[in-house]
Amino acid sequence: MAEPTIEDYLVEDRIFPPPTDFVANALVTDRSMYHEAEADFEAFWARQARELITWFDDFGTVLEWDLPFAKWFIGGTLNVSYNCLDRHVEAGRGDKVAYYWEGEPGDTRAITYRELYEEVCRFANVLKGLGVSRGDRVAIYMPMIPELPVAMLACTRIGAPHSVIFGGFSPDSIVDRVNDAEAKVIITADGGFRRGSVSPLKPNVDVALDQTPSVEHVVVVRRGDNDVSMAEGRDHWYHDLMAHASTECPPERMDSEDLLYLLYTSGTTAKPKGIMHTTGGYLTQVAFTHKYVFDLHPDTDVYWCAADIGWVTGHSYIVYGPLANGATSVIYEGTPDTPGRDRLWSIVEKYGVTQLYTAPTAIRTFMKWGHEEPQKHDLSSLRLLGTVGEPINPEAWMWYHRYIGGERCPIVDTWWQTETGAQMVTSLPGVIPTKPGSATIPLPGIFGEVVDDNGNPIERGGGYWTLTKPWPSMLRGIWGDPERYKQTYWSRFPGRYFAGDGAKIDEDGYIWFLGRVDDVMNVSGHRISTTEVESALVDHPAVAEAAVVGASDPVTGQAIVGYVILKGRVEQTPELVEEIRQHVAKKIGPTARPKAVIPVPDLPKTRSGKIMRRLLRDVLEGRDLGDTTTLADAGVVEEIRRRAAESPQED
Ligand code: PRX
Repeated sequence: MAEPTIEDYLVEDRIFPPPTDFVANALVTDRSMYHEAEADFEAFWARQARELITWFDDFGTVLEWDLPFAKWFIGGTLNVSYNCLDRHVEAGRGDKVAYYWEGEPGDTRAITYRELYEEVCRFANVLKGLGVSRGDRVAIYMPMIPELPVAMLACTRIGAPHSVIFGGFSPDSIVDRVNDAEAKVIITADGGFRRGSVSPLKPNVDVALDQTPSVEHVVVVRRGDNDVSMAEGRDHWYHDLMAHASTECPPERMDSEDLLYLLYTSGTTAKPKGIMHTTGGYLTQVAFTHKYVFDLHPDTDVYWCAADIGWVTGHSYIVYGPLANGATSVIYEGTPDTPGRDRLWSIVEKYGVTQLYTAPTAIRTFMKWGHEEPQKHDLSSLRLLGTVGEPINPEAWMWYHRYIGGERCPIVDTWWQTETGAQMVTSLPGVIPTKPGSATIPLPGIFGEVVDDNGNPIERGGGYWTLTKPWPSMLRGIWGDPERYKQTYWSRFPGRYFAGDGAKIDEDGYIWFLGRVDDVMNVSGHRISTTEVESALVDHPAVAEAAVVGASDPVTGQAIVGYVILKGRVEQTPELVEEIRQHVAKKIGPTARPKAVIPVPDLPKTRSGKIMRRLLRDVLEGRDLGDTTTLADAGVVEEIRRRAAESPQED
């Protein structure tokens, strides 16, 4: 039996069975899907593909697996925009709302499936008119406005893979991504609303355009009304082009394995990787997971994923999954604190949101703002909550459960990645009891194991999370670099996909993600996960958020340093700081007690909300900070540096 390789300190024995009222109406209430997939996973996925997707030509072979290259649903042809739009209109659901859109300043739009269909057809014709044809790449750099899903769907209609670049990125990031994909067209907006003012986009594109020779045309949506310059012949207003476009645009028949989109993931140093997703397998798994993990009842639900479409979460769970399933969703343009810290909760109340999907980093921010904010609103429409993007600390989970879910909503903690395309490890909410902080077990049709340094499976305890079978929405490679694909994901453990995450498995076979293995600390030979120490810190009633890093230490190899954000009204005293430090020892053991606990006003995060532990280590070890361009707020680091220099350190 292989030995655990990462310490397993945190004991969490709270367990929440699916609530009875929820189970009474749940789509799935027993384990038969798990058994079916266990017995024959290809047949299981083939059934999902045929039930959830409309194919122009049925597929023959389900899976061709030439490790690490997979092809799913071979010979099948389909069109993604047809599946997301036409078939719902043809079935008589054209008047159903696809999106309730809420602009940050308070302007709103309700867009039906028929309206969305017509707008997509017109824009698909616009793209054709600009010379975009099947196989050409189109870059999209937009705020969270309805024209963003329109642009994506129009691309899929004509078979042009899109590359969405998150609207918060700088001109440099645009240059890298546009050039790597050799995009022919960029679709953007003048600007979008964030935190009460217009954040300009077209001016960033203008800076990038000096260095992007492949771009022939730029289409600009008017949103912010900020001044922009338009180059004659190259730049076009969206509304001008749309005014003359026809609503007739037959969908292109795409092969199941045709490229659907590229989405770049930023490595911390290396050049961004263009993650490739293809058509049939991707759509099957996003539709499957969106339906069953969120227990979608399309006729009555108002579903809301509060992510940005610029990340994979938005691609899969704002655009493709919900639309393929004919759902009604909410899209919100702006930030959660505009005009007040209760904006999200006012939106939940206004639209009667039934499912809410957000990130642990957002939940911890809401905790810091206090439960009085959600209590200003009636949240009783909610019946399910979801999280994604990071491990959720058990106390943040409990807060979400209590103050947002009113103790009646199951929480689906969904583990997945840009590379996996769709959710992989999480609970079917009517079936699987949840434990705060655990993503629970792999979904039906998904197979994974925790392994030790040598790739041997561990039955209990901490190690590396690996996937052992291909899955329909898996990445098909890195654009232009098959070697890097093999090297990055398939070389550490032969025959297994290694995602870079540590995880532990408990006596019930539940998976507890422990963060990126690059962040695992080594203290006197104990490998300790940052996630577990952070959860122990957040367990203290005064702490809203924590980030833990291992700084090099002459005696112990690495020493644990915990940065904490205190809750709103808590007063910071040396006694409190010491109490928080000791709390970790009490909660998970003295080996994990931080050498120092440093209260800070904020933490350095990427724009998708992940804590940049590398920067925190650099601060502690006095290193130059290197590349900080992916940081959401660069000023935070200076303040942390100052606090770190002043902080006492104990042994
Ligand atoms: O470390 C895991 C963490 O986020 C990484 C993937 O990030 P990204 O490609 O940006 O996609 C985020 C949205 C899917 C993973 O390798 N992660 C994501 N979800 C969870 C998680 N860690 C723990 N629990 C989760 N539920």
